[in-house]
Amino acid sequence: SPKPIIAPSILASDFGKLAAECKRIIGDGADWLHIDIMDGHFVPNITIGAPVVTCLRPEIKKTDDGKGIFDCHMMVAKPEQWISDFAKAGGDLYCFHYEAASNPRDCIKLVHDSGMKAGIAIKPDTPVDVLYPILDDASGDKSYYPDMVLVMTVEPGFGGQKFQERCMPKVKALRDKYPELDIEVDGGLGPSTIGVAAESGANVIVAGTAVFGAKDPKEVIEMLKGTVAS
Ligand code: DX5
Ligand code: ZN
Repeated sequence: SPKPIIAPSILASDFGKLAAECKRIIGDGADWLHIDIMDGHFVPNITIGAPVVTCLRPEIKKTDDGKGIFDCHMMVAKPEQWISDFAKAGGDLYCFHYEAASNPRDCIKLVHDSGMKAGIAIKPDTPVDVLYPILDDASGDKSYYPDMVLVMTVEPGFGGQKFQERCMPKVKALRDKYPELDIEVDGGLGPSTIGVAAESGANVIVAGTAVFGAKDPKEVIEMLKGTVAS
């Protein structure tokens, strides 16, 4: 099954020293950086946009083993609108919400045409079945196929919320059906919730508060990664 990836959410970092925070957390063993983009429409909060990603890109080295990948979680009402900005800014993975895209398949294709990998995210109340037509696409045309699925484990909009275990059957269903798929979970993940997420089949783990708020982030990252690997 796919390799464990730890993607700390920089939403929980000190934005006043963002580049230093990103470097520190990669130094502590993080793989990707999860960048939460909120537009005040799809979710009731605003964070950052492409200009910040543009400034961060030259600060963060990407390595062949996948360190420093910018995992852009697009909590925006019109995901099609920002694809080229994020591609230019240095985004690697553009993960948009199924609920927001006017045509999710076409959106995946647009993301791929921009040169980025494409992820598709679902909120806690969105059934996993909506993704099957996309993931079972028999056309063989990879440009319409997502590189990752994100199963949200909190209502998107804010860090520091409680993990919703009720979302785990969706992860399990996806893992059973798609053994090689990268499946990301996001929201309330940490040492006390990683067990059930890993067991359900998630391999890409977002953690904000649990990592940036930790006394020893390195230890937490190792623990999360070790649990997914076992
Ligand atoms: C929520 C964001 C998450 C969040 C995770 O809308 O998508 O990425 O920052 O933060 P924690 O780990 O604190 O729940
Ligand atoms: Zn996120």
